[in-house]
Amino acid sequence: MDSIDHFIGKQSIRIQEQRALLNSHLRDEWQPLQLMFLTFIFSGIFFQLWNKLSNREKDLLTALKETFFRFVRSLPIISSMIQKELDATKSEIGKNMFPLKKGQKYKTKLPQKGLKPEEVVELVRTQYKSLETTHWEDGRVSGAVYSCGQENDRMMSEVFSMFVGANLLQPEVFPGPRKMEAEIVSMVCNMFKGGEHACGVVTSCGSESILLACKAYREYAYKKGITKPEILMPESAHAAFVKGGKYFKMKIVKVPLDKKTYRVDFKLGKQHDIPVHVDQCMGGFLTPFVGKEYNIPPCDFTVEGVTSISADTHKYGKAPKGTSTLVYRHPKYREGQYFAYTDWSGGIYASSTMAAPANYDSN
Ligand SMILES: Cc1ncc(COP(=O)(O)O)c(C=O)c1O
Repeated sequence: MDSIDHFIGKQSIRIQEQRALLNSHLRDEWQPLQLMFLTFIFSGIFFQLWNKLSNREKDLLTALKETFFRFVRSLPIISSMIQKELDATKSEIGKNMFPLKKGQKYKTKLPQKGLKPEEVVELVRTQYKSLETTHWEDGRVSGAVYSCGQENDRMMSEVFSMFVGANLLQPEVFPGPRKMEAEIVSMVCNMFKGGEHACGVVTSCGSESILLACKAYREYAYKKGITKPEILMPESAHAAFVKGGKYFKMKIVKVPLDKKTYRVDFKLGKQHDIPVHVDQCMGGFLTPFVGKEYNIPPCDFTVEGVTSISADTHKYGKAPKGTSTLVYRHPKYREGQYFAYTDWSGGIYASSTMAAPANYDSN
C-alpha cells in the first residue's frame, strides 16, 4: 500500500514539474492571445474533420479518392482541359441526340397569337411526333418501351381522356382514380402473396418506388434509435438505391455477389429486423406467372424477411409510362414513407409519395 502511495506521489510531482516547465516555456515563447487564437483555429479544423468523417455517406477510401480527384480537377490546367472535353461532348450529344429537321428551331417564347385546338394537334404531329426515327412500336427498344400494341395504346388513350382533369390530391372530387389505385395496390399485394396486412402505394416510376422504400426504412431505423442508418445493397442493384442514399443521406455499402449464383444472402435482415426490399421493377409482373416454368426461386412475401417489393406497372404491367407499385408486408414499414405537415397556412398538407398529387394506399 505504501509503495503504491509512494508511486502515485512521485508521478504527481513529475506531472507538476512537466506542467511548470511547459507553462514557463509557453510564457517565454507565446503570448496568451496567440495561444487563444491557435486553439480556436485548431479546434475548428478538428471539428470540421470530425464532422466530415463521422457524417460521411461513403466509405473512407472512396471519400478520400473523391477528395483527391476533386482537388486535381480544380487545378487550372486540368480544369480547362476537362472543360474543353465537356464542351465538345456536349455539342456532340446535342447534334446526335436531339437532331432537328432542316429549318426547325426551338421555340423559346409564348406565341403572340393562340392556336386553335386542331392547329395544336397538327403542330404536334408535324413538328414533334415526326422527330421520332426509332421504330419503338416493334418492341425492340429494350429498357425504354414495353409496348403492347396499338389496341392497348388506343384503349389507354381512351381511359386517359376520361381523367385528363383529375387531381388525385382531391379524392373526394375524383373518387374513380382513387379506386383504381386502391385496386391496383390490392392486386399487386395479392400477386406477391402479401397476406392480410400487406399494403402499398402507386408511384410514378421504379426509381420513385425504390426511393420511397429507402425513405420509409430510414425513418423505421430512426424510430429504433439508429441515428445513421446505412443501405446494404448487392453490387448489381439499380442506381436508384444510390440515389436514395444520396437524397436521404444514408451511406451505401455494396455487398459482392456470389461468383457462381450471382446472388446475395439476405437472411441477416430477418435475424436483425432489418427491412429487406426486393426490386422487381423490371420482372415483377412476370415472375409470379412464369417463375415456376423458368425455375426462378420465389421472390415474393412467402420468402421470410422480405418486407417490401417494387414492381413497375409501366414495364411488364403494360401500363403507360409512368406508374409503378410499391407494396409492403405490413403498414409499420410503410409509415415512414408519408409526409405530413399540419402547420401550413394553406391547411393540412399530406402526401404519400414524392409528387404531391398522388396517391392513396389500398388498406
Ligand atoms: C431492376 C430495375 N429497378 C429499377 C428501375 C428504375 O425504374 P424507372 O426507370 O421506372 O425509374 C429499373 C429500370 O429499368 C430496373 O430495371
